[in-house]
Amino acid sequence: MPYSQEDQQWIQSQLQAEHIGREIITYDSVDSTNNIAKRLVGKPDKEGTVILANSQTQGKGRQGRTWHSEENVGVYLSTLLKTSLPPDQISKIALVAGVALVQAINEFSRARAYLKWPNDILLNGKKVAGILTEYCKKEAHSEVILGIGINVNHARFPIALQHIATSMAMENGDIFERLPLITFLLNRLDQEYQSFLNEGISPTIDQWNLNSDMFGKHISLTKGTQTFFGTAMKLDEEEGSLILLTDNGEEIAFDSGEVTLME
Ligand code: BTN
Repeated sequence: MPYSQEDQQWIQSQLQAEHIGREIITYDSVDSTNNIAKRLVGKPDKEGTVILANSQTQGKGRQGRTWHSEENVGVYLSTLLKTSLPPDQISKIALVAGVALVQAINEFSRARAYLKWPNDILLNGKKVAGILTEYCKKEAHSEVILGIGINVNHARFPIALQHIATSMAMENGDIFERLPLITFLLNRLDQEYQSFLNEGISPTIDQWNLNSDMFGKHISLTKGTQTFFGTAMKLDEEEGSLILLTDNGEEIAFDSGEVTLME
C-alpha cells in the first residue's frame, strides 16, 4: 500500500530526532528519492527532511547501478544533511548510516544482518539493504544526500538479481511492517549522527566492527583496475578505512573499493 497521510503523521509523531526527520514527505512513486532530496539543496531549513517513496522508477545504486524498487514491499528514503565537516570527514557519514541501518534491521529480523564494507547490508550472504550518498558543495558547507534502500517484503527478485539480493521476508519467512522499521531507523540514524558530530567517528567504527562478519575472512578487493587478495582485518579506528592483510603479508588500508567474500 502507498503511504497514507496517517502513515506520514504516525512516523512524524514517533521521531525524537534533532536533525533527521524534522519533516517527512511521502510519495507514491518517484524516479529516485535522492533526486527529490537534491532539489532541496541550498534551501534554508530543509536539513533533515526525509523523502519517503512507495516505489522508484529509477532507483539508483552505487557505481551507476540501478536499485530494484518494487512498490509496496521496500523502504526507499533519502534525507538531506548540511554540514561544515571537512571533506575528509564527510565520507564517514556512510559508515554512520551503515551502523544505524544494520541495527534497525536486526531490531526486527531474527536472521542476523551484517555489514559488508563499505556499506552493504547482507542477510545470509545476500544483499538486503544499501546506502547511496551524494555530495554537493555549497560555499562554506556541504550538503549530503543520504539515500537508503531496504528490501523488506519482496517475495522474489528479477533473475539477474536472484543470486545476490534477498529481503527480510525471504530470510525470516515473515512479513514486516514498514513503519516501525522506518521510525526505528530514522531515530537511530539521528543518534548515531549526533554521536559522530560530538565524539568523532570512533564509537561508530566500534559498532561497525561488531556488526560485520567479514573480518578474518579471505576477500578480494578491487580498486580501479587492480584486484588485491587477502584477509580483511578490521576498519581503522580513525579513518574507517579497511585494513587488508594481503596474501603477500603486506598491510594495506583502503578508503574505497569493491569487496567480494571468497568463502
Ligand atoms: C547500493 O548500491 O548499495 C545503494 C542502494 C541505495 C538505494 C537507495 S533507495 C533510496 C535512495 N534513492 C535512490 O535512488 N537510491 C537510494
